[in-house]
Amino acid sequence: MSGPGGHAPGTAVSVRITGWGSYVPQRVLSNADLERMVDTSDEWIRTRTGIRERRVAAPHETTATLGAIAAKRAIAVAGLAPDDIDIIIVATLTPDYPMPSTAVLVKEAIGNTTAAAFDLAAACSGFVYGYATGHSLVRSGMARHVLVVGAELLTRFVDFSDRATCILFGDGAGAVVMSASDEPGGGLAGLELSTDPDGAYMIWLPSGGSRSPSSAETILRGEHFIRMEGRETYRYATRTLAASALAAIEKAGWRADEVDLFIPHQANIRIIEAVAKGLGLPMERMVVNIDRYGNTSAASVGIALDEAVRDGRIKPGHKLVLFAFGAGFTSGAAAITWTADPADSVRSDAIKPVAAVRAPLDWASVDPMPARLAAVLADPGGPPVPLDDVVPGEPQPAHTEVQP
Ligand code: ACO
Repeated sequence: MSGPGGHAPGTAVSVRITGWGSYVPQRVLSNADLERMVDTSDEWIRTRTGIRERRVAAPHETTATLGAIAAKRAIAVAGLAPDDIDIIIVATLTPDYPMPSTAVLVKEAIGNTTAAAFDLAAACSGFVYGYATGHSLVRSGMARHVLVVGAELLTRFVDFSDRATCILFGDGAGAVVMSASDEPGGGLAGLELSTDPDGAYMIWLPSGGSRSPSSAETILRGEHFIRMEGRETYRYATRTLAASALAAIEKAGWRADEVDLFIPHQANIRIIEAVAKGLGLPMERMVVNIDRYGNTSAASVGIALDEAVRDGRIKPGHKLVLFAFGAGFTSGAAAITWTADPADSVRSDAIKPVAAVRAPLDWASVDPMPARLAAVLADPGGPPVPLDDVVPGEPQPAHTEVQP
């Protein structure tokens, strides 16, 4: 029997991150832009969430194209060719389509012809769940190299007339390559995953599934947008996030103060501050980029990891904790020892931020940009956009190519 990529099976001695990469769209949506759409203020958003701006994908970008660029960068950093990847996992709550999986589209876009590919649904915890899944697949000998991508295009699932949610989310993608190693040590030292269905309807997207299929009525009801009980979610996050991290640290046999860097899901700066306080550690131990990207859900841990390696904050031998919580509720933490050379980051510099995802030639999607968002972006610094001042856009060509 051979693995998906034709590699001989056999358990790996350790599983290491060998590649990392991220991509965020160029277009910035500032708090001032949001002031033109809903009754909010830059001051409220900054002080209540820590967010200053977030990125918005261009009309020709999709979750798969964002993920493919991050993936190509991670594969280049690992020094691999696309066909070296045996399994592709895409964690997302904003897939291109309900089917096929976004992972299928990422596989094609990166030029891989050999891998098995599937999506993983764990909302904002998706990157940590993906890491755990990738570890198991490599450790068991099912694969030598697994690509884990967290990619989200949340701005197309947000109601830009709901101030409680539209200020929070942004678009982006992060990726890692996890590889089998014959050397002991390094990689995963302790893992904690948990799921609490009491939170099932605290963050949810009501329609478009089997319970409530898409119809004119579900659109009129506004049921194709993310809904969230912010206060309950906040309470859960502050309670669970530190506990998950601590459980993973204990399983690793470490003390919290021995951890060099924590890489948390970026949902709210106050949640990250509460975790640091709960662990008795200074904020310098936490990676924070929520000010620039907002909440990018399954992408956030991957983007933060990539930036921290590039910034020189992560070095071989460092103890790291990747941890997240999200809709479900789900939460997870992975305590890992870093082994790769941060200088390998430069290998991805030649990768252009371009990805193409095929669609049927006889089909054109609707204009994917939310009309209120498009109206604000089209007129920088313009006046407020009233609720009834937007018109639907033009259909889009079936083939999309990212040309930033
Ligand atoms: N601008 C101005 N005022 C606002 C805004 C806004 N954008 N949003 C809410 N308010 C108002 C509310 O209406 C309320 O007014 P009231 O007191 O007159 O009723 C007041 O501000 C306080 O509202 P709260 O909801 O209590 O505000 P809070 O301090 O809890 O902050 C927030 C809200 C930022 C959403 C916070 O609860 C939070 O971060 N929750 C966690 C969200 C999260 O982590 N989501 C993760 C999603 S994970 C996934 O899987 C997708």
